[in-house]
Amino acid sequence: ARILLLNGPNLNMLGAREPQHYGSFSLATIEQNLQQLAQKCGVNLECFQANSEEKLINKIHQSFQHVDFIIINPAAYTHTSVALRDALLAVNIPFVEVHLSNIHKRESFRHHSYFSDVAEGVICGLGAKGYEYGLDFAVQFLANKA
Ligand code: DQA
Repeated sequence: ARILLLNGPNLNMLGAREPQHYGSFSLATIEQNLQQLAQKCGVNLECFQANSEEKLINKIHQSFQHVDFIIINPAAYTHTSVALRDALLAVNIPFVEVHLSNIHKRESFRHHSYFSDVAEGVICGLGAKGYEYGLDFAVQFLANKA
């Protein structure tokens, strides 16, 4: 199985960025950890981060018929991007939405997501562990489908 981990804008700053919300792990550490988990589960994982909507959308388009599942933290685009939502619907790849922080505990503009109603599931507020839970879910989901 082929799984894609997508991280949106400013998540390259993890570790340094508002640690009270996002924890102290860098994105590199999170990605390395997830790669190890993917290897144990026997799935292929690609990790991609971008700060622009265009790069994220292009990556999703390139995944069409090449990726079986997407784990995505759209970051601030969660609350703004119809285009990113439409890209996921266009390629019709099942996905889980992950947020490090509990977006419902924060400013009201973070409470709405353009992704949640079309995601297989949403994980938020569980920190970097949320990505591991997302990968675990993806592996089960794909095993049940096969
Ligand atoms: C985030 C939450 C978003 O509201 C914020 O814009 C982010 C990160 C999270 O992982 O908690 O950049 O997606």
